Amino acid sequence: MSLRPIRLRDGAQWSRLRLSDRAHLEPWEPSAEVSWEVRHALSSWPAVCSGLRGEARKGRMLPYVIELDGQFAGQITIGNVTHGALRSAWIGYWVAKEFTGAGVATAALALGLDHAFGPVMLHRVEATVRPENAPSRAVLARAGFREEGLLRRYLDVDGAWRDHLLVAITVEEVQGSVAAQLVRNGRASWT
Ligand code: ACO
Repeated sequence: MSLRPIRLRDGAQWSRLRLSDRAHLEPWEPSAEVSWEVRHALSSWPAVCSGLRGEARKGRMLPYVIELDGQFAGQITIGNVTHGALRSAWIGYWVAKEFTGAGVATAALALGLDHAFGPVMLHRVEATVRPENAPSRAVLARAGFREEGLLRRYLDVDGAWRDHLLVAITVEEVQGSVAAQLVRNGRASWT
């Protein structure tokens, strides 16, 4: 698998996967005023894509597509990138149902963290996850994220204000690189 910047021509695959995987994705994603179908229609992608790329140009966001054997398999986004004395950001991701259970999110998170702590020179990356989201908690734990606390009624997700665990990792906690650590532990291999 690999990560690459999002493109305008990702629209058809993005829309197809987001519409077919609604039941897989909706319990974990922020609620919105507009319906799932409208938000993920092919015609919505240009605005979504240019919004993300606009934030990327300002250095505030790093939006990537997760590719598996050249196919669009999901997204991983590093957001609220802050430099200066904080050098911090959050990270979030989704993987299409047909590609789950094969270590794709784990590998994508490792590459995302290595990029954040390497070229982007961040010091801390945090994530928030619903306590009920066992697969995502497993992914975060394997990358080395620590639990820092429970954020009560933190985010409006799937129609209600939901508690989220706050997890984080700082550069001091990474020995060499997160991806190399996965390879050493037999969880991934270089291609
Ligand atoms: N209970 C406990 N663990 C589980 C369960 C379960 N019900 N189901 C799966 N797992 C484990 C798997 O066994 C695996 O761990 P293992 O390799 O140690 O066995 C782990 O969860 C999943 O690891 P990956 O294969 O690397 O992850 P995958 O590519 O399947 O993607 C993801 C996981 C991203 C959570 C995917 O299911 C998804 O997109 N879900 C919907 C959206 C979502 O939840 N996004 C994350 C929001 S939180 C955030 O962004 C920080």
